[in-house]
Amino acid sequence: MKLTILFDRLRWEEKALQKEAQALGANAALVDAKPLVFEISRVRRAREFGDVVLQRCISFYRTLYLTRILENLGVSVVNPYLVTESCGNKLLTTLILAKAKIPTPRTMISLSSDTVAESAQKMGFPVVLKPFVGSWGRMVSIARDKEALLSIVELREELQNPIEHMYYLQEFVKRPPRDVRAVVAGDEIAACVYRYAPEDDWRTNVARGGLTKALKPNKELREIIFRAADAVGGGVLGVDAMESEEGYLVHEVNNTVEFAGAQAATSGSIARKIAAYVISRARK
Ligand SMILES: Nc1ncnc2c1ncn2[C@@H]1O[C@H](COP(=O)(O)OP(=O)(O)O)[C@@H](O)[C@H]1O
Ligand SMILES: [Mg+2]
Repeated sequence: MKLTILFDRLRWEEKALQKEAQALGANAALVDAKPLVFEISRVRRAREFGDVVLQRCISFYRTLYLTRILENLGVSVVNPYLVTESCGNKLLTTLILAKAKIPTPRTMISLSSDTVAESAQKMGFPVVLKPFVGSWGRMVSIARDKEALLSIVELREELQNPIEHMYYLQEFVKRPPRDVRAVVAGDEIAACVYRYAPEDDWRTNVARGGLTKALKPNKELREIIFRAADAVGGGVLGVDAMESEEGYLVHEVNNTVEFAGAQAATSGSIARKIAAYVISRARK
């Protein structure tokens, strides 16, 4: 059984995944994706990646396209291209969650800057703005009034990337200064933690200094976690939820889940559970 773990920056997580996969009897290779080159006009069966690939690149577009290339070459990738696409774009994730009737914060899309203030007024301030593609809380901003909102819009309009000229707006959920992160591996919750926002930030991302604390999910939370994971196609995922006055709301499903923060508050090895799931996805 040969497993390839692809990375573009080697972190603690990838090394732990390799170690645990090897402990489970797999031959697990860490491969840097950056030097890879593919002649995509030639269709062949790629055997050099082994029976299954675990995609751990940080760059979203590298992950997305490399996964698609590998699938064309007959390689089984965790997570598959469609799951990566659905999770990597917050607009697509929200569409999927809404269609599956999974509680999610009220969200509006303005297709130009002209209607952003109107959308925000409909939902009421404060309002949260998010880039369609992004992680670690980057560019996720809160506008507490119309003036703050319009200055964010003005800055966004200066950006060269046309995707930034459409706007994802969300109600600000009145939640405690924490949210929930569940690491899902197939039909198992490998870890579930609260993430507390650091003192100087309203966002709870561990990348921004958020601290984790163990959480034993109740039936309602477990159900919503699995429903969200299933809705995007399942696999190895990080489901993020907030506690609102009306119950849990899922705001994001992460495709290449970081779990060092969750591991700090969890007793069993998260990497072991992920490795076991990936091995189970090997092409027979
Ligand atoms: N609608 C919201 N209301 C309140 N807090 C939010 C809302 N959306 C996001 N946050 C906070 O901001 C953080 C980052 O938002 P998220 O949608 O998860 O983007 P990212 O992909 O950058 O992590 C969340 O973990 C949460 O703490
Ligand atoms: Mg998040």
